[in-house]
Amino acid sequence: MNAPHTPALHPDFSPAASSPHEASANWLPFTANRRFQTTAADRTMVSAQGNYYTNASGHRLFDCLSGMWCCPAGHGHPKLVEAFTQQAKTLDYAPAFQISNPQTLRLAQRITDMAPKGMGKVFFVNSGSEAVDTALKMALGYHRMKGEASRFRMIGRERGYHGVGLGGLAVGGIPANRKMFGPLLMPGTDHLRHPWNPEQMAYSKGQPDWGADLALDLERLVALHDASSIAAVIVEPVQGSTGVLVPPKGYLQKLREICTRHGILLIFDEVITGFGRLGTPFAAQYFDVQPDMITFAKAVSNGVVPLGGVIVRDEIQQAFMTGPEHMIEFFHGYTYSGHPMATAVANATLDLYAEEDLFARAQKLTPVLQEGLHSLKGTPGITDIRNIGLMGAIDLEPVAGKPGLRATQVFEKGLQSDLLLRFTADTLAFSPPFTATESELAQMIDSVKRLVTQ
Ligand SMILES: Cc1ncc(COP(=O)(O)O)c(C=O)c1O
Repeated sequence: MNAPHTPALHPDFSPAASSPHEASANWLPFTANRRFQTTAADRTMVSAQGNYYTNASGHRLFDCLSGMWCCPAGHGHPKLVEAFTQQAKTLDYAPAFQISNPQTLRLAQRITDMAPKGMGKVFFVNSGSEAVDTALKMALGYHRMKGEASRFRMIGRERGYHGVGLGGLAVGGIPANRKMFGPLLMPGTDHLRHPWNPEQMAYSKGQPDWGADLALDLERLVALHDASSIAAVIVEPVQGSTGVLVPPKGYLQKLREICTRHGILLIFDEVITGFGRLGTPFAAQYFDVQPDMITFAKAVSNGVVPLGGVIVRDEIQQAFMTGPEHMIEFFHGYTYSGHPMATAVANATLDLYAEEDLFARAQKLTPVLQEGLHSLKGTPGITDIRNIGLMGAIDLEPVAGKPGLRATQVFEKGLQSDLLLRFTADTLAFSPPFTATESELAQMIDSVKRLVTQ
């Protein structure tokens, strides 16, 4: 897949610029910052085009995770560049409160047209974390407006990732993200068990047969806390960040049924699955389960400009529409909610998805990715492989006593070769661009095998 080339250090990344001092000024998020400094040129991306990045040490790298799950249409698409440039010339910013702009109004309409039926309202934010915190606030506000202010409790899931806002952290289930911030976490949250069980579902292709009854955890939490105290359940339909944990067959349906029976709102966090990752606009449609709210971000704007949002059932917004007409109904929002630069690029992104039929392309590539990943079964050092839609994960055997080191080493070898990988702990995650070719996916699998066994 890579044209032969000789890696050369990028001119902006001269030995002076890559001095430990310069590389250390930026405190990087979710990063081993000291390790970064030792490999800064490999880890610094200087350009991206199509399905490839180039790093400062001159390697051309296949984009195994569509950026960070956010660039499914590839990089540098001329139509997105054009939309961005035109919007900067036309309307670079408009206030977000009491005011809107044509791109944002149009985008909201288009997103609701793609959403499951009855979800006719969109609230814009700038990131997945903001989307989650906004949805949690909406859930609390909704119950209060309906006269059920006792419903304050939020239920998340172990190994869930819902961003880094204080609400998202509390419902999230990643211990390392939570432990330092204990006193700030929302009181009253509880968690379902995560649905991954290697004894029952190792090397599953698509949805595992075992595990639907894990949804009954919610009944136990209802029995423990009483439904009258529970506002909402939030889950990622497929848990992405902790390594593509695929919901067992029937699990999400059961969760929906229990929520409905107890008047609990069901929020699908579709920051990763939204906009085609499973071949449908939203995972809600793929699994045929109707949530009350959907959070989204990332692929809505192909990662070019930050944008996120919450889609809600009409009735949820309606509950807030009381009081004098001139009064604000929901005291929440951001300076950059519905930023016209972001919504213009998102409108152009949705055009691209439609014109190039990219969700169908994701569907077509799904079996290619599945068979490619599973062909690695039996490779020394690999302990599980999972996939659904155009996403998948490989678990690596950890180096004894040093969790995370194995995947770090594979990631770093990739940066000196031909892959930009993504890892959490000792799991490699894959969500290639929808624009990838079958031979690029085959090459990616070959390279992974080489890097893992090297
Ligand atoms: C499911 C989910 N929710 C929320 C977030 C947070 O999004 P952001 O990093 O844009 O705040 C992520 C990020 O990966 C995510 O995967």
